[in-house]
Amino acid sequence: MDKKTTTKSDVWSGRFSEPVDELVQRYTASVTFDKRMAAFDIQGSLAHAEMLCAQKILTEQDLSDIQRGLAQILEEINDGRFNWSIGLEDVHMNIERRLTDLIGDAGKRLHTGRSRNDQVATDIRLYLRSAIDAIDGLLKNLCNSLADLAEKHYDTILPGFTHMQVAQPVTFGHHLLAYAEMFCRDIERMRDCRKRVNRLPLGAAALAGTTFPIDRERVARALGFEDVCRNSLDAVSDRDFAIEFCAAAALVMTHISRLSEELVIWMSPRIGFIDIADRFCTGSSIMPQKKNPDVPELARGKTGRVNGHLIGLLTLMKGQPLAYNKDNQEDKEPLFDTIDTVSDTLRIFADMVSAITVKPDMMRQAALQGYATATDLADYLVKKGLPFRAAHEAVARAVRFCVEHNCDLSDMTLEQMRAFSPLIESDVLGALTLEASVSARAHIGGTAPERVKEAIAYLRKRLET
Ligand code: ARG
Repeated sequence: MDKKTTTKSDVWSGRFSEPVDELVQRYTASVTFDKRMAAFDIQGSLAHAEMLCAQKILTEQDLSDIQRGLAQILEEINDGRFNWSIGLEDVHMNIERRLTDLIGDAGKRLHTGRSRNDQVATDIRLYLRSAIDAIDGLLKNLCNSLADLAEKHYDTILPGFTHMQVAQPVTFGHHLLAYAEMFCRDIERMRDCRKRVNRLPLGAAALAGTTFPIDRERVARALGFEDVCRNSLDAVSDRDFAIEFCAAAALVMTHISRLSEELVIWMSPRIGFIDIADRFCTGSSIMPQKKNPDVPELARGKTGRVNGHLIGLLTLMKGQPLAYNKDNQEDKEPLFDTIDTVSDTLRIFADMVSAITVKPDMMRQAALQGYATATDLADYLVKKGLPFRAAHEAVARAVRFCVEHNCDLSDMTLEQMRAFSPLIESDVLGALTLEASVSARAHIGGTAPERVKEAIAYLRKRLET
């Protein structure tokens, strides 16, 4: 912040007998964080001014002065030459004051029929809409990275877990595609949220609307909004759209966090299913042998912070009477931090997933332990005519035998197996391999390698939209 501009504000001078206290000025100012909406503030002002001119509220000359002035201001901001002043409180007043300095009275006319209350709501919506569109692309990139890795490992077998216990063998491609499903739902959720973000508050003015003959639909069209907010009181006070976005973002981070947890486990030398490229890991300052999965751990941690922002915004709104209250200024930092955290995380994860080294031998070894094909043996018996519950019991006894004799189901001789059910014949051996187990699950949504290939193709098609 420029030194000479942090002096006491004169913005409200006519109504006030003394300048705002210096600490209060800093306490109430938002320019340090809301200046990131500057380009959208200018875009909104241009649409507002064009409408005022079309409605004969501003002259052509006023409009062209405003257009020229705002273009220069945008350039100054982009070049880092703009002098932001805390004394001018927020992004809106900073830009308006500079405009007036540049073009005189036309700058003072820009705020006709408008209030900062509908202006800020418009800016946030424009900013968030653009962030959602970027996040849409980032989610797609991550899904494509998952699909690329799944393609390479459509038939690589690892144990699937329930309760963190070996359950049944699955293909690694199938496992990765489970996350792609989550992120596809995130894309849907973001797009649905976007519809409610994409409505125009401008025209609500302070809260009750304006006495000028404005054309809100024209402004909405100019700014690409799908509709106008239908009630002026609601328009300036509604932040549901920001809360919805944070809820959708919290789910994105929840999915990221679950994936992170698996990456951390898989990379542990005790498991050793994968390795993460060095550029996503760090070492230890004391233990020379360490290579830590810092990125997934940090992403897991940052999930808490995004969840916190969601709760923060809900709490911000819960006690507010209509219409605008200054509380609302507190919506921005949580919202911006959520956008930044989710965007950075998605960007890093798309790269990191592409740089995962898979260790199929370790996965296979793990899948061969823990009687992962016990269900296949039960299914085999059912196909020979045994009711499922009876089959379940026969295999449970066989597993117990294996535990006592420290061997695997596939290590038993045919004779030993037949002790548990005379229905077992020599064709059982082919049914109990890991490959047979995964290939047999060949319905839609199943783990069979052929199905995984189809699921990848289907996913890619969805990602084109
Ligand atoms: N900086 C304010 C905000 O973020 C802009 C609106 C101020 N309106 C007001 N009546 N004080 O909400």
